[in-house]
Amino acid sequence: MKVIRHIYEMQHFIKERKRRGDTIGFVPTMGFLHEGHVSLIEKAREECDTVVTSIFVNPLQFGPNEDFDRYPRDFERDERLARERGTDVLFYPSVEDMYPDGAGVQMKVTERTNVLCGEKRPGHFDGVVTVLTKLFHIIQADRAYFGLKDAQQVAVVNDLIDSYFFPVELVACPTVREEDGLAKSSRNVYLKDHERFEAPKLYQQLLRAKEQVQTGKALKDVRQEMISVLEDIPYGETDYVEILSYPQLQTVETFDRKLIIALAYRFENARLIDNIIIEEKL
Ligand code: PAF
Repeated sequence: MKVIRHIYEMQHFIKERKRRGDTIGFVPTMGFLHEGHVSLIEKAREECDTVVTSIFVNPLQFGPNEDFDRYPRDFERDERLARERGTDVLFYPSVEDMYPDGAGVQMKVTERTNVLCGEKRPGHFDGVVTVLTKLFHIIQADRAYFGLKDAQQVAVVNDLIDSYFFPVELVACPTVREEDGLAKSSRNVYLKDHERFEAPKLYQQLLRAKEQVQTGKALKDVRQEMISVLEDIPYGETDYVEILSYPQLQTVETFDRKLIIALAYRFENARLIDNIIIEEKL
C-alpha cells in the first residue's frame, strides 16, 4: 500500500491507473477507522481494481463549538488497518493542500438540510460537499463508498453527484454494529462506561419504532413514544428524533413510501447518530 500526501502525486497515480484501464474505488474517511470503514474498503476491494482510501479530518464540516480539535486521530493504526483490509493507496493530504486559499470557494447545499444533522449542525453539509467535490476531482473514482449510518449524508452526496454530473456511482453500504446493536462510530471511544452501557438503547428504540410503523401505528405517536423512552436514559439528551421520507427527507404523515427513522443523542463527549430505513409497504 502506498501513502500519498500530495495532491499532484495522487493525480499522477490515478492517471497511470486509468491509463492501464483500472476501475477506481474510493472510500472517503476522516480516519480513526473502525469496522464500518473497513466494510466499505472491503466492498471497494471486491468491486474495483484500485482502491483509494482518504483520511482527511475536514475542518469545514465542523461548527465552531464542535469537536474538530479533539476528533480522534491515530494515523499508524489507520495505515495498518487500511493496508490489511485491501487499500492500494492511502491519500492523506494536509489542510493547507486541500484549502490553499483558506476555503475561499465553497459549495452550498440548499435541499434536504433543514432537518436532522443539517438543521442541528448549520454549515456541516456545505463542508462535506465542498471537500467531496475536491476529492472527487482528485481521485476520479468510478465508485465511491459511503455508510448508511450517515443516511442524510448519502442523500445529500447523491444530490451532489447528480447536480454536478460527477461520473461516479455512489455505493451506499449498511451500518456496521457492535454485537449489542450500537452503530460503530469513531466517536464511540468518547463514551464513558456508564454511557456505553446505555448507548445500545438507541438502536433498540429504532427497532421498536420500525416494528410499530410496520404494524400501522401512527407515525406521530411512534415518534412521541421514542422521545419519551429516550428521555428515560439517565445520561445525555436527545438532539432529534424524526420520521421522514427517504431520500427526500420530507415530513410525512403516513407510511406510504420509503421512510427513515433517525435520531441523534448527545452523551457528555460524544454525539451519536443512528437510523433505520424502512422500505415502502408492498
Ligand atoms: O463521513 C465522513 O467521514 C465525512 O463526512 C466525509 C465523507 C469523509 C467527508 O469529509
